[in-house]
Amino acid sequence: MVNKLKFSSCGHIRSDLAKDLNFSKLKHCHTWVFHSFNGVLLIGSLLLLFVVSIGSGYFYNTNSFQEPIVHDNANRTSKFGGECNVFVGNWVPDESYPLYNASECPFAEQGFSCLANGREDKEYLKWRWKPRNCEIPRFNVHEILEKLRGKRVVFVGDSLSRTQWESMICILMTGVEDKKSVYEVKGRNITRQIRHLQVRFRSFDFTVEFYRSIFLVQPGTPPKHSPKRIKKALMLDKLDDINKEWIQSDLLIFNTGHWWTPTKLFELGWYFQIDGKMKLGMTINGAFKKALATWKSWIEKKVNTNRTRVFFRTFEATHWSDGSHEKCDVPQNPWSETNGKDESVFSDMIIDTVRNVSKPVTLLHVTPMGAYRSDAHVGTWSDNPLVPDCSHYCLPGVPDMWNELLFAFLFSDQQYQIH
Ligand SMILES: *[C@@H]1O[C@H](CO)[C@@H](O)[C@H](O)[C@H]1NC(C)=O
Ligand SMILES: *[C@@H]1O[C@H](CO)[C@@H](O)[C@H](O)[C@H]1NC(C)=O
Ligand SMILES: *[C@@H]1O[C@H](CO)[C@@H](O)[C@H](O)[C@H]1NC(C)=O
Ligand SMILES: *[C@@H]1O[C@H](CO)[C@@H](O)[C@H](O)[C@H]1NC(C)=O
Ligand SMILES: *[C@@H]1O[C@H](CO)[C@@H](O)[C@H](O)[C@H]1NC(C)=O
Repeated sequence: MVNKLKFSSCGHIRSDLAKDLNFSKLKHCHTWVFHSFNGVLLIGSLLLLFVVSIGSGYFYNTNSFQEPIVHDNANRTSKFGGECNVFVGNWVPDESYPLYNASECPFAEQGFSCLANGREDKEYLKWRWKPRNCEIPRFNVHEILEKLRGKRVVFVGDSLSRTQWESMICILMTGVEDKKSVYEVKGRNITRQIRHLQVRFRSFDFTVEFYRSIFLVQPGTPPKHSPKRIKKALMLDKLDDINKEWIQSDLLIFNTGHWWTPTKLFELGWYFQIDGKMKLGMTINGAFKKALATWKSWIEKKVNTNRTRVFFRTFEATHWSDGSHEKCDVPQNPWSETNGKDESVFSDMIIDTVRNVSKPVTLLHVTPMGAYRSDAHVGTWSDNPLVPDCSHYCLPGVPDMWNELLFAFLFSDQQYQIH
């Protein structure tokens, strides 16, 4: 016989956090349902889990970023399953969105400010991600600002990472009265190629930084006497040289994926290298996996996860109308189906790798939620309308939801610690 046990998150488990964050706005209580063949066995296992968790120090003070993580060895179904997989759900209309006005946020780059670039329909701004079996708690910007006091937040990755970085700054700035107290420390402007940007929130003494590292691994010069077509060697066994600058952070958010294409690699003369040797026959998928393995061992060896909370965002769905990334039609409403875009081999490899890391890393599996949002892309409302864009998303928009999830994982309770 199958027993079901329900745990309501309105109970005492979340009460400290409820005091901490503004949970009074929560519309629904969250419910966990555990299935088991035997209730006694289940309760026994929960007790054991509790003891093991305490023994291994997984319960931390909520002041730090180290939230409890249930670090089990179960397979994908059970890790992502349970009754509240926050990455399975749909978009619902919500008039309380958008979260900010990009024209009033100096860190929303022009290329992503669709309204400012002439987009007229506004429905795309008013959607909220609703996980099937729970709600993402609505964050309180003042609480988040306080929680971040004295901390260092670091985004590493490609331009999609820059979008999330911009989104986070714009969201946080809505809680800051003196907008001038938020500034890039060297007065640098946002450009596509820029390697590092560091925005400081002076009144709260924290920074939110972006490091451009499109492959996460290090490009180099190919060995002498390599065939002429080889212009660059992407060293899959060596993490990006600037990795030292990522280590001393409190929050570290990675992504990669959009540059791993034949057009952006082979056609430009970029080939893979391992252990000083060119690997000309290596497939992009094979190389991606190897690069992730390099990232994994770096996390395990170099990052003090007692201090640093690590996230990895999966592939951000694109909606090109053709295979060649040239045609792009942005509708006014999200797709009602994912049309297969909720799956990505890159995401699968990221999930596999993250699951194998021997330290706590939280996945931000944004592929399924993005899959519906064909309406949310920059399209021709960018700084260069001649080049349509169905890869990047408008701001405000989908990247704000990535940050809401991030805040939920950081400052909410255990049920969001899906590993
Ligand atoms: C893994 O998932 C399968 C399919 O859902 C399930 O039958 C199996 O019991 C799971 N194994 C573990 C160890 O959780
Ligand atoms: C955003 O701010 C700009 C500049 O202050 C203003 O002109 C515009 O109406 C605002 N847009 C919305 C949607 O509120
Ligand atoms: C940034 O852009 C502004 C406005 O375009 C310009 O005045 C300023 O000189 C730029 N700053 C840097 C450091 O390039
Ligand atoms: C991290 O915390 C654990 C458990 O408290 C401790 O055993 C370990 O030495 C710490 N590691 C570092 C690098 O501080
Ligand atoms: C993860 O670990 C399993 C079991 O050790 C292994 O079979 C698999 O290849 C690993 N995957 C990655 C991406 O490291």
